[in-house]
Amino acid sequence: MSLTVPPSPFIAPSILSADFGHLGDDVRQAVELGAPWIHCDIMDGHFVPNLTFGPDTVRAVRSAAPQATVDVHLMVERPDWMLEPFREAGADILSVHVEACPHLHRTIQQIHDLGAAAGVALNPATPWQRIEPVLSMVDVVVIMSVNPGFGGQSFIMETLDKARALRDWRSKHEASFVIQFDGGVSPETIDACLDAGGQSLVAGSSFFKAPDRKERWALFQSKINQAYD
Ligand code: DX5
Ligand code: ZN
Repeated sequence: MSLTVPPSPFIAPSILSADFGHLGDDVRQAVELGAPWIHCDIMDGHFVPNLTFGPDTVRAVRSAAPQATVDVHLMVERPDWMLEPFREAGADILSVHVEACPHLHRTIQQIHDLGAAAGVALNPATPWQRIEPVLSMVDVVVIMSVNPGFGGQSFIMETLDKARALRDWRSKHEASFVIQFDGGVSPETIDACLDAGGQSLVAGSSFFKAPDRKERWALFQSKINQAYD
């Protein structure tokens, strides 16, 4: 498993808000603008009250973006049996929810055995301490900054402290997981995400539904540069 992590924080566009009639074009545009990771939201209608897509769509993303990191976020109950089909479809990162995994340690091992990077996602109401026993083995911590299920919701500010606590834990224990914010990332909230230690910032509607994606990307990038120069 080798996870490509850019040195500075970055936007990971979520295809949930892309135009599915032109998915390949939308993904190519995101990559051309500089997106290093493409985020794919899998919803099963049980863990969350919405349904999205399966491995074939991830395969289409993989072929439209052969160089990008394909980041698959599984908002599903019992994700274990899905890991292999999504990995086979081209996922580089497989993120599961702690709330959906009674045997989280084993699930993370399974992801690593498949040669993928392992992410663990926390709902807004889930304390970060719940994953403390596995933090030294995870590659990505996904802090849900909205309740999972839909794009276009407002950022929940209370989740910022979770990132700060995780950043402190990581430096104290010399761990190396990536801190990801997922949900409600926009020009209005990106500064707070960066300040709290967010590195991978998932943006669905604020990128794909922007009136001018190129302009939106440049705005995000200038805010990242300001925070990190
Ligand atoms: C929400 C998904 C997010 C979603 C974010 O359940 O996990 O990845 O695409 O969408 P926005 O950026 O519109 O909040
Ligand atoms: Zn997501």
